[in-house]
Amino acid sequence: MKIYLAPMEGITTYIYRNAYHKYYGGIDTYYTPFVANRRLKSRELSEVLPENNTALPLVPQILTNQADIFLEIAKQLKDMGYYEVNFNLGCPSGTVVAKGRGAGFLNDPGKLEKFLDIIYDKSPLPISIKTRLGIESLLEWEDLLKMYAKFPIRELIIHARTLSQQYTGKPSIEAFKMAQDMLSCPLCYNGDITDFTSFNNLLKSCPDTTAVMLGRGAISNPELPLIISKPNFNSGQISPSSISHDETDINNISENKDNSMDNSFDYKRFVLFHDELLAGYKDYMSGEQPVLYKMKELWTFWSMHFNIDKKTLKKIKKVQSINAYQSIVKTLHLTSNC
Ligand SMILES: Cc1cc2nc3c(=O)[nH]c(=O)nc-3n(C[C@H](O)[C@H](O)[C@H](O)COP(=O)(O)O)c2cc1C
Repeated sequence: MKIYLAPMEGITTYIYRNAYHKYYGGIDTYYTPFVANRRLKSRELSEVLPENNTALPLVPQILTNQADIFLEIAKQLKDMGYYEVNFNLGCPSGTVVAKGRGAGFLNDPGKLEKFLDIIYDKSPLPISIKTRLGIESLLEWEDLLKMYAKFPIRELIIHARTLSQQYTGKPSIEAFKMAQDMLSCPLCYNGDITDFTSFNNLLKSCPDTTAVMLGRGAISNPELPLIISKPNFNSGQISPSSISHDETDINNISENKDNSMDNSFDYKRFVLFHDELLAGYKDYMSGEQPVLYKMKELWTFWSMHFNIDKKTLKKIKKVQSINAYQSIVKTLHLTSNC
């Protein structure tokens, strides 16, 4: 089973990806949040620069509805040494959709097919696609699949929701199964894999699944890839620190593992991961507020998985200086809530 980390604008930055890869790993491919400009802006460039992504298997993602822009960006990415690009047909944000891009492009299948004709004919790199199921209803999905069947898609990553569902409601495993029946290209399932049970349910319905993409579940619980790839992990028989890893400091953590912690959660590893993120954002961003914004955003996800009392979370969300933030975080004794 291949495991991918989802592109998440503002979250899975290169700083996040590098820290994640160092302390957790278990990811076969990382994806950048989308880049969209013919001349990449500095934030976009920092995401794809090879020197910022040295140790990572990484596929950059492009969002546009203009074939010439797609091809120009793909050419730049090829020159940087990438071996694949991913095309975004899933972004549901109002401004993106209003311009007929992301999931909004699914609203004009005629134009989309012409666009795909050109990019698959001329792209200097193989193209994978990350798609939603349609705009409103599952009835659109079969026609979309018939269109996708016409192109040499390197891999179709299916976020099994429609645009109108945004990020809520149940993803449709049935729709993924339908793609397995109709397409011969490699497929990857995405949507609400948050623990071993949700992963297992997918496999029960679709035993032929060969790849899954983890989004919010892996941000909330960074150990998720280890949990779903090692079924005994949750029962405490395997701990993340017992899984082999290149980094020597991980081996040290393993020796120092605090036994008072929940058996299935390696607190010291999380602290090192957290500290590396904080240091990375301090280096990269000017001023304390943008750094704190990044860390607070992550706590929104972490608080879904870790036991953290509401008062402390509120303090983190309100803190105004990095020193004060660090003092609060130092007092935490996190445990996993599952
Ligand atoms: C804050 C946020 C930012 C996202 N940014 C992107 C993006 O840049 N490109 C993309 O294809 N999907 C993006 N997504 C969608 C995720 O990649 C993923 O498809 C979605 O969260 C469903 O997976 P999950 O249920 O495992 O979270 C984003 C999602 C969130 C919540």
